[in-house]
Amino acid sequence: MSHSFINGSTARDIHQSMRQAIRDGRLPAGTVLPAIRDLATQLHVNRNTVGEAYKRLAADGYVRPKGRRGTIVTSAATTMLPSLSAIPAGMRNLADGNPDPHLLPHLRKILTSVTERAGLYGEYADLPALVQSAPSFFRRQGISSEQVMIAGGTMDGLERIITLCLRPGDRIGVEDPGFASALELIRALGIQPVPIQLDSCGMMPDSLERCLRAGVEAVLITPIAQNPTGASMTLERAQRIRYVLRKYPDVLAIEDDHFSPLATTALAPMRDPRDPNWVALCSVSKYFGPDLRLAVVFGEQNLLKRLEARQRLGARWVSHVLQSAVLKLMLDPATKTTLKRAARSYAERRTAMKAALESCGYPISGGVGINLWVQVPDPQRVTQILWTEGWAVRSGAAFTIDARSGIRLSIGRITTSDVAEFAEAFRGCATIGQRSLTA
Ligand SMILES: Cc1ncc(COP(=O)(O)O)c(C=O)c1O
Repeated sequence: MSHSFINGSTARDIHQSMRQAIRDGRLPAGTVLPAIRDLATQLHVNRNTVGEAYKRLAADGYVRPKGRRGTIVTSAATTMLPSLSAIPAGMRNLADGNPDPHLLPHLRKILTSVTERAGLYGEYADLPALVQSAPSFFRRQGISSEQVMIAGGTMDGLERIITLCLRPGDRIGVEDPGFASALELIRALGIQPVPIQLDSCGMMPDSLERCLRAGVEAVLITPIAQNPTGASMTLERAQRIRYVLRKYPDVLAIEDDHFSPLATTALAPMRDPRDPNWVALCSVSKYFGPDLRLAVVFGEQNLLKRLEARQRLGARWVSHVLQSAVLKLMLDPATKTTLKRAARSYAERRTAMKAALESCGYPISGGVGINLWVQVPDPQRVTQILWTEGWAVRSGAAFTIDARSGIRLSIGRITTSDVAEFAEAFRGCATIGQRSLTA
């Protein structure tokens, strides 16, 4: 089959034209790429040139060699929605993963008492009082470490850690399906994501072990409220994951903790916090609000020093006004009530949506947080049909590497009457999906 949109005479150009085609959906997930020999003939280039382009695509994580079946597109970083901001007014939005603004702390009270004096160049990067208070705020959630630095959020911290500790071409184990933004960032940095399967208790120990045995340099673990599934570790699962990690002491374990203050289970870290190969990113976006986004980064002293040194060259520091607001919220006695209320509301909304999905024949087990993952036979089509019915959801290709695709429903802002209406719309799609499965 000739793909006229694949072009170029160098490995770089061929790689770029194919990467673009994967991103915009012309080469969708599951497509078998042309044989190297055939493409080389079509483009009038040496086979090694095409081979090199394929290697680069594999390093990006966009394709995987599948033995005799050839090279297969694993996942396209596309959804049917051009951008979340393009969701028209009036659409019901289960797509954007936002928390409910009504469940966030009131800003006015905090902001009026935030900072006495504007910071200047050359001062400390991290607010000393925040560095002092953050460990006890998170200790209640199970993170026990005194070594702290402040980053601009999970994604900022993740980018810094990857850039510091990994090299393009390295591999990182990630949950599959996983957090789409993290997957995209990982690929953009030239790191290859390696899939780790999960169930409702999070990453599965056997799958983690296979991934570690295959020789990854790092793993990214979301112990609680995994995105997009909501999977959350039990104490026993966390114990088993720790046990597997101990057998691979050289692998960097990065924990993504964006929800534990809203969770009932407190999990100890996946490695000893003094271990040079452990770091945890604790973002406050989901419970203080994305606009107060910062992440408290816990890790071993030397690793944090290197991260801080690198931060000084770029962003320099996270605004002290912001750090001061987050500190006030951590210390404010009212925050406890706010967090409890949010946790209860999200749990109720999740339970209502699970019951609705179950009534449509799609039971979902377990889970915490504001995201649910529903495996449907044709996610793209279901997404489109729901869109025409006034519901925006995320189609799953951007979340997956090898896993069967699905749709992600974010229920952060859903109401009880929304749930009933959504179930009605979804029931129609579910039937269509089943028909196409058996056709
Ligand atoms: C899994 C996961 N981690 C972290 C975050 C928060 O990221 P950030 O701190 O960059 O806002 C989110 C937000 O959606 C998330 O889903």
